[in-house]
Amino acid sequence: MSAYKTGKLIIEGKTKQVFELLEDRTLCLLQSKDRITAGDGVKSHQLAGKAAISTATTAKVFELLNQAGLKTAFVRVEGETSFIAKKCEMVPIEWVTRRLATGSFLKRHPGVPEGFRFNPPLQETFFKDDANHDPQWSAQQIVSAKFKLNDVIIGQDEYDIMNRTTLTVFEVLERAWATRDCALIDMKIEFGIDANGEILVADIIDSDSWRLWPSGDKRLMKDKQVYRNLTTVTDADLTTVKRNFEWVANQLEYLVPPPSSKVVIFMGSPSDEEHCNKIARYAATLGVKAELRVTSAHKAPAETLKILSEYEGTGEKVVLVAVAGRSNGLGPVLSGNTALPVINCPPVKPDNVQQDVWSSLNVPSGLGCTTVLYPESAALAAAQIHALHDHLVWSRLRVKQLTNFITLKRADVRLRN
Ligand SMILES: Nc1ncnc2c1ncn2[C@@H]1O[C@H](COP(=O)(O)OP(=O)(O)OP(=O)(O)O)[C@@H](O)[C@H]1O
Ligand SMILES: [Mg+2]
Repeated sequence: MSAYKTGKLIIEGKTKQVFELLEDRTLCLLQSKDRITAGDGVKSHQLAGKAAISTATTAKVFELLNQAGLKTAFVRVEGETSFIAKKCEMVPIEWVTRRLATGSFLKRHPGVPEGFRFNPPLQETFFKDDANHDPQWSAQQIVSAKFKLNDVIIGQDEYDIMNRTTLTVFEVLERAWATRDCALIDMKIEFGIDANGEILVADIIDSDSWRLWPSGDKRLMKDKQVYRNLTTVTDADLTTVKRNFEWVANQLEYLVPPPSSKVVIFMGSPSDEEHCNKIARYAATLGVKAELRVTSAHKAPAETLKILSEYEGTGEKVVLVAVAGRSNGLGPVLSGNTALPVINCPPVKPDNVQQDVWSSLNVPSGLGCTTVLYPESAALAAAQIHALHDHLVWSRLRVKQLTNFITLKRADVRLRN
């Protein structure tokens, strides 16, 4: 139990209790139970240790989503079996995303073979109503219900934001699981509206929320489907289910790796430092570390190549950015002497851009450096290269695109009203 003073029980469901927190009324405590249920609660068993595994799983998943830049209700773990979250009024919808067809989808769509692949992932919504077995709802039904939660009415714009956020959450988790050679087949999440009217990914995300098939092999499934599939439930079965859940929680330890992607920004002159700092700051927001070096390919070519060899020798994953004003010898010289990607980002001024940019663009044969003009573009280009191997950088880029979508939508809503 929490060291915090809990207030009254706000709500109790099948798998957890939600308590008010007396210290801060905008937060709540989600206390997990040692209980596993399926079929709208028809099947239900006590499973010692499940609360702790579920809490550890949710905490790791939300840590990953928060690191990617997604807005979630998760605040922090509080004891082994509970965590603190922003107190929300919950949107009574289950947001489901599917990469492969399986389970209930096959029953609702006869003729589609199991394993049919959805590109982009398929999205479905279900109204949370145990008594009626959570019926599937269309966007029109959700908007027409006019849910009012913490003074926010769920309209088309809110639906669009949640729908797109759901897709991003799925993609982020799918990429993360892929690093463990595990296929995320489908996923269910819920949203809440907090006291500030913010739309947050809320509730929990644990082994009850998804299907996970190691190596993409259904027979190896590690999620709650194993429990759902049981007709009789023995102690040995429950032990297997628990072992699977433990395996998932352990794998999650590897899904938030320390930052490893790096950009090294070479500048031809210290006078370009501010331009380089801008690139470094943008890179940091995308989860890419930056290092700044000063060296002139014109005045000290041997030194430039010596510095280059430092980075080639470490075996790190590095993208180079060359910042040189007037005639840019730096980027092309680097590019001609390394297999690392080189991005030119010359600090051009409006009055000389026409002339100076040509030294970055019109390079000798055999060179493959690319050129961008803005510090933000250089950081984004470097991050997109790193995203090929670093799922956290990929996730930051994806969430940045989601954030752009939401920002534009909010601006449009403001002008419409
Ligand atoms: N951050 C939050 N703030 C307020 N309520 C929350 C929050 N996160 C989850 N809840 C709510 O806590 C309740 C209890 O959760 P639980 O998962 O045990 O319910 P359940 O029996 O599974 O039923 P349900 O089908 O509604 O999930 C749910 O109604 C859920 O929406
Ligand atoms: Mg629930």
